[in-house]
Amino acid sequence: MMLLKRGRLLLLLKLTVVLGSVWMFSLLIRPKTGWDPTYIFRYGWLEYTDADGGPEKVCNCSAILQGEREALLQAKLLTITKAFRKSVHIPDEYYINATQDCRIFKLSRKYLLFPLSQEEEDFPLAYSMVVHHKVQNFERLLRAIYAPQNIYCIHVDKKAAASVLSAIKAITSCFPNVFMVSKAVSVVYSAWPRVQADLNCMADLYNASTKWKYFINLCGQDFPLKTNLEIVRALRSLKGGNSLESEKLPGEKRWRVTVAHEIVDGKIQLTGKVKQPPPFNLPILSGNAYIVVNRGYIHSVLKDNRILALIEWAKDTYSPDEFLWATIQRIPGVPGSTRPSPKYDITDINAIARMVKWQWHEGSQGSLEAAYPECQGSHVRAICVYGAGDLQWMLEQHHLFANKFDTDTDPIAVYCLERYLREKALAELH
Ligand SMILES: *[C@@H]1O[C@H](CO)[C@@H](O)[C@H](O)[C@H]1NC(C)=O
Ligand SMILES: *[C@@H]1O[C@H](CO)[C@@H](O)[C@H](O)[C@H]1NC(C)=O
Ligand SMILES: *[C@@H]1O[C@H](CO)[C@@H](O)[C@H](O)[C@H]1NC(C)=O
Repeated sequence: MMLLKRGRLLLLLKLTVVLGSVWMFSLLIRPKTGWDPTYIFRYGWLEYTDADGGPEKVCNCSAILQGEREALLQAKLLTITKAFRKSVHIPDEYYINATQDCRIFKLSRKYLLFPLSQEEEDFPLAYSMVVHHKVQNFERLLRAIYAPQNIYCIHVDKKAAASVLSAIKAITSCFPNVFMVSKAVSVVYSAWPRVQADLNCMADLYNASTKWKYFINLCGQDFPLKTNLEIVRALRSLKGGNSLESEKLPGEKRWRVTVAHEIVDGKIQLTGKVKQPPPFNLPILSGNAYIVVNRGYIHSVLKDNRILALIEWAKDTYSPDEFLWATIQRIPGVPGSTRPSPKYDITDINAIARMVKWQWHEGSQGSLEAAYPECQGSHVRAICVYGAGDLQWMLEQHHLFANKFDTDTDPIAVYCLERYLREKALAELH
């Protein structure tokens, strides 16, 4: 009986939203903790429904998330259909126009404009987002992680197309807690400026608010695997620790830090000069660009003289993003760090920062070498761009975020993931 009533109410509310009624907005008062019978009145309309969806709505996401063959096959077929992919694509200009009225934009895109719980409100997060193209991916990602208590620094590559910069500026201008980095750089793949982009956001975020507890860096093709509440709980359970890949630097990568490099015509090159050893004889560890670290770690990055010297020293190395954060994580005295002893090594699989499927670690369950099942999407630079068929396995992992997603090549993976997360976030209110 109750269910029936709720169902009808929901339908009624969906209708009102479709009609663009603004009176709903006035009902958005702060949630109480615990079960609230007026839940549907206040929050039900925030679910993503077929009515908001683009052409992806023909897919059955619950079947896809359960790994059902038929549904996955249908998704795969759609994904390789050019006309379908084209119909899903949203041009940059759309965002410039749609954000002229921010209130309507946020309502129609169903952004969460109030903290969903006291626990989340008391544990604000800081995000650095480094983007260079694919505005649609960026906006879907921002919407998935947006909460008013968090803050977001957006770094758009200086080389990015004008329409990308305009569209992202337009989107960020709709939110008081989302801002463009104060100093943008021209990012060069595998070279220092990639790190500088994150460093500039770290400084801005540190300066912008004293409240946030943890820092997470993202690129435009990441997507969360957890709700904000789940992220907050995972971070609290770190008890002040950090979570990032940090292991012994393999011998075949040592040249990256022993020989100097320079940027020529936007590309990194060897100079042939031999570098001095790292300052303070700091042991160099191997990791990746993606980190989950506490506020104190960021303070150290910005202020600790040993780290400032390490940063200067690292500027002519190859792919510094793949050792700098990992090295800092093992410097004694850095909040949340662990000792340099190899006993504390942690792989990308064991850290919670990022799920990435490298082509050479994929394979069947029977294989002793394989770290994860085969990629169900496509590969870019030997990294899996997830397909709908990757979701079921991925959602069983402990990682907070996964890389890479691409709404241009596999829109259904993002579509089903965002629906799943929103439904879960609203269910957590009960
Ligand atoms: C979607 O898939 C689920 C799980 O198999 C099934 O229970 C449901 O009926 C399907 N929905 C539609 C509209 O086909
Ligand atoms: C621009 O956005 C408004 C709503 O904000 C909409 O009514 C209009 O159709 C849009 N124009 C274009 C060219 O997309
Ligand atoms: C941020 O930087 C500005 C300018 O450098 C300074 O005036 C302001 O006090 C800083 N804010 C915080 C919270 O540190």
